[in-house]
Amino acid sequence: MTHEQAMRSAAKEYMHAQMKKSLSIKNLYKNIQKDLNKVEEGLKLFSHSSNKLISEINTYLFQKVGKRIRPSLLMLCSKLLGYQGNEHILMSTLVEAIHTASLIHDDIIDNSKVRRGKESVHEKWGPNITVLLGDYLYIKSISLSLHSQHRQIIHILTDTSAKMIEGELNEYYMSGNLDLAEEDYLDIINKKTASLFSASCQIGGVLGQASKREEKFMIEFGKNLGMSFQIIDDLLDFTGDEKTLGKPILSDISEGRITLPIIYTLHNDGRANRKRVTEFLKEKNLEKNSKEEILEIVKSNGALDYTYKKAEGFSLRSKETIAQFPKSIHRDTLILFSDYILTRRK
Ligand code: FPP
Ligand code: MG
Repeated sequence: MTHEQAMRSAAKEYMHAQMKKSLSIKNLYKNIQKDLNKVEEGLKLFSHSSNKLISEINTYLFQKVGKRIRPSLLMLCSKLLGYQGNEHILMSTLVEAIHTASLIHDDIIDNSKVRRGKESVHEKWGPNITVLLGDYLYIKSISLSLHSQHRQIIHILTDTSAKMIEGELNEYYMSGNLDLAEEDYLDIINKKTASLFSASCQIGGVLGQASKREEKFMIEFGKNLGMSFQIIDDLLDFTGDEKTLGKPILSDISEGRITLPIIYTLHNDGRANRKRVTEFLKEKNLEKNSKEEILEIVKSNGALDYTYKKAEGFSLRSKETIAQFPKSIHRDTLILFSDYILTRRK
């Protein structure tokens, strides 16, 4: 490496470190931290039950370890429109609870034994109890929306839940299917993930008395952010650090789930690598050297770069949408959110 190259590389590293510092989630939350603390209290109320099992599992679930992205988006979107009331606390609590309910069901479907660095609920309590606990949490969350003066919120939540289930169903149905096209993948992640991001932003908009046009922007912003989030999630399944992520990597391919780096590989790599990837998709419990081989394939054929670029495109669209609103601290935070989604490590 020449001196000039070394200087350039050091400067790049410094810039990246600076960017990561300014994009820490704590920074994004500084204007809503008090309200987020109230959401934590709200989530803890799910543990107050005379049923010992409900109380025990919900206490385990709501120890503060999640990123709380959906409640934060809801709050920021409401505040962007100048919302001054209190309903955003309850609505934020309920979107996080729906998300939690969906994750514990998802971990059964995906056979995931670890979540957020701890045993998944079904690993600890078994799938039967976990399905019922997820149902309980879900229905209790939806019932909180009855407290809102906006009936529209119930509609948003029920439509979104149906979409999430449809997305998850399609993903499971298509697992192992090598014909899965990028378009099918994008449709799946839109339904299973982006729909709740979008709903959270839309609910924020409804609380803030958004005009029809503003509400459309909120929906669009949340959708693009959610797409970017899930593509990065699928990328981190290849590139992430297990300890930071709190879940094992290469779990998608181990379960036959075809995500964007694999779709790219199956469409663009040579015959030998396509054949290897097809074999890996059929194999359960991949050996260490198989994992290394997969990583080498997706790194060298450009699949990881391609996937990151896709996420970047959605993130950019989310920023363009939110930039339609007048400048404010909350708008700036939402723009930073779009950058954070791309740089996150967990
Ligand atoms: C995680 O995806 C899963 C989701 C985003 C959605 C799960 C939705 C359902 C189970 C439908 C049921 C919904 C309700 C409302 C009860 P992932 O598996 O790609 O991410 P991961 O690696 O974090 O598990
Ligand atoms: Mg999963």
